[in-house]
Amino acid sequence: MYEDLFKLSGEIAVVIGGAGGIGSAIAEGFSEYGAKVVIADMKLEDAKMVAAGIKERTGGESEAMYVDVTDEVSTAKLRDSILSKFGAVDILVNSQGVNAKHPATEFPLKDWEFLYNVNVKGVMITCREFGKPMVERRKGKIINLSSVRGSRATKWSGNIGYSSTKGAVDMLTRQLAAEWAPYNVNVNAIAPSLVATQTGMGGVITSEHVKMYAETIPMGRIATLRDIVGAALFLASPASDYMTGQIIYVDGGLTAVG
Ligand SMILES: NC(=O)c1ccc[n+]([C@@H]2O[C@H](COP(=O)([O-])OP(=O)(O)OC[C@H]3O[C@@H](n4cnc5c(N)ncnc54)[C@H](O)[C@@H]3O)[C@@H](O)[C@H]2O)c1
Repeated sequence: MYEDLFKLSGEIAVVIGGAGGIGSAIAEGFSEYGAKVVIADMKLEDAKMVAAGIKERTGGESEAMYVDVTDEVSTAKLRDSILSKFGAVDILVNSQGVNAKHPATEFPLKDWEFLYNVNVKGVMITCREFGKPMVERRKGKIINLSSVRGSRATKWSGNIGYSSTKGAVDMLTRQLAAEWAPYNVNVNAIAPSLVATQTGMGGVITSEHVKMYAETIPMGRIATLRDIVGAALFLASPASDYMTGQIIYVDGGLTAVG
């Protein structure tokens, strides 16, 4: 009666930022549950390596494609390539993201614009371009990677840019969820605290950050990729069909106390 709740067999998923730490893990998890996965990233060579690794380990269909989410033409081209190759897109994961830390008194506009271009405009563009065919088909699941920083500040400085972009991602998620609920398109977000990835968000997250963050978390550790993949599988599968507009905190209890 309930055995299909977490099945993704035959679903077509595009994971944007799929060459990155979290995106590649989510894509592999989806593949293990039966989805065909497109690894889309501006780092095409890295995306190809991720796609090949997934294919080798899971035996599932996995393909790499280029996209720059700050460019609406590039994003529309990605969508059209996937539609012509696979016929539809059932699941969109926005796992692209950048970080840059400076004290608020001297945050450079160049980095501010960089963060907003990728983290906010990039999510709006992908949701718009992939949301259109989902609305037309009356079927879709969109999962945005937000952060605990979308709703909780840090005592330490550096986060004014990143945190405010994630606050915007939370509201994009809620607004799109409300607009597209009548069309059977679910839009939710995963908001992790710090996650152990090899990339450390392009080197911005250091071992110092890991130590500092772990001390603020009731469970006393940062998140693993498994922790995030679990939430992504839930939000991509029929188990979450009646959930939309939610920000799921995968944070070891951080937002319960802060
Ligand atoms: N790692 C963490 O601790 C953590 C915690 C909370 C939230 N997040 C969020 O999760 C998401 C993934 O983080 P990650 O740790 O995997 O980061 P990552 O740096 O490993 O991966 C991000 C990927 O996005 C891609 N990307 C950047 N700009 C792009 C663009 N313009 N077009 C297409 N692709 C682009 C990069 O090439 C990279 O492969 C981000 O949104 C991040 O803000 C991460």
